[in-house]
Amino acid sequence: MLKIAKYPQAILRKTAKPISDFNAELKKLAVAMAEVMFADDGIGLAGPQVSQSQRIIVVGDGKGDHYDVYVNPEITFASKEKDTSEEGCLSLPGIFGNVSRPKKIHVKYQDLDGKVVKEKVKGLKAIVIQHEVDHLDGILFIDRAQKITKGQDILDTLKK
Ligand code: NI
Repeated sequence: MLKIAKYPQAILRKTAKPISDFNAELKKLAVAMAEVMFADDGIGLAGPQVSQSQRIIVVGDGKGDHYDVYVNPEITFASKEKDTSEEGCLSLPGIFGNVSRPKKIHVKYQDLDGKVVKEKVKGLKAIVIQHEVDHLDGILFIDRAQKITKGQDILDTLKK
């Protein structure tokens, strides 16, 4: 099982590299990432979180074991209308915070075969995709949180 990189590991702050090889190894990585995500009850996971500095994210639906894989995802539209919700992250266990993000987005990405796909997303999935795309750019939800709702003490200890 892949190991999750935890804050403040440096990999989490690096900009991940675009993926150009849509090979069997990439498919294996996606499956391994989904496995870790489900094992830790997450609903999203980005490459850097498993110490792979590559632009790939997996997104679950919080219910069953279905997941979607986005390679080289780009947010091409974000609504002016925003929503605030409490976010957490597998790389920051025990820490939660309120983050405001655009309600609706359009995302352009490649599937595991390299085919370009465009998708309109709203609701929880839109939040998860934005959180995970941030990871690819070295951004964590604590950078965007207006308020840390749980685990401020843990965060203070980690920052020391
Ligand atoms: Ni995260």
